[in-house]
Amino acid sequence: MTDSLKDIHAASWSALSTAAQGDNPLRILTLATVTPEGWPEARSIVLRRVEERERLLEFHTDVRSGKWHEVGLDGRATVLGWDPDRRTQLRLSGRIYPAGPGREAAARAWEGLSKWSKLTYTGPAPATPLKEPRATNGDEPEEGREQFGVLLFQALSLDWCQLERGNNRRAYFEYEEGDVAPTATWIAT
Ligand SMILES: Cc1cc2nc3c(=O)[nH]c(=O)nc-3n(C[C@H](O)[C@H](O)[C@H](O)COP(=O)(O)O)c2cc1C
Repeated sequence: MTDSLKDIHAASWSALSTAAQGDNPLRILTLATVTPEGWPEARSIVLRRVEERERLLEFHTDVRSGKWHEVGLDGRATVLGWDPDRRTQLRLSGRIYPAGPGREAAARAWEGLSKWSKLTYTGPAPATPLKEPRATNGDEPEEGREQFGVLLFQALSLDWCQLERGNNRRAYFEYEEGDVAPTATWIAT
């Protein structure tokens, strides 16, 4: 890998790690999955944690949601992010490993949630028809525990694309098994 590709790769993962810490546009990513019928499905999702060495992104969701069902049947997924400061698109392709209630990853993440985040997992299942929006502030936060799940996304590739007038650049990184440097190449935008 040339130095500039190495820098781009390191900067991309560093930007994701920083974004997971708090207020940052790259913290809201788009997660695309495949439905049982083979349609693509996409939604916004908060990036909760990054494990750079393992190329892992952690997301949280309700185990009764459509996406939880989808990734249980087909773990292939794409994560898309737009970093306005660097005018960069990050497209990561990989696999999702769901960890539901009772799993260590879910228990650890649950303990780190605020009361308000825990309340997200109380009440009726996602997509249940309602007569009007339902407030969760009267609920008991711990009741959400059994509906809470962690989605661990492991990247298999990263497609990096930066648009700058007169200097559009795109690079593709592919990950091998284990802790080895990715293969890296410039590609046309
Ligand atoms: C800014 C934003 C952040 C969101 N973050 C999450 C999240 O972290 N986890 C989640 O399950 N849903 C999140 N959602 C809701 C999802 O986008 C989606 O509407 C919902 O989870 C149902 O998706 P599904 O039917 O594909 O499972 C977020 C929505 C918005 C607008």
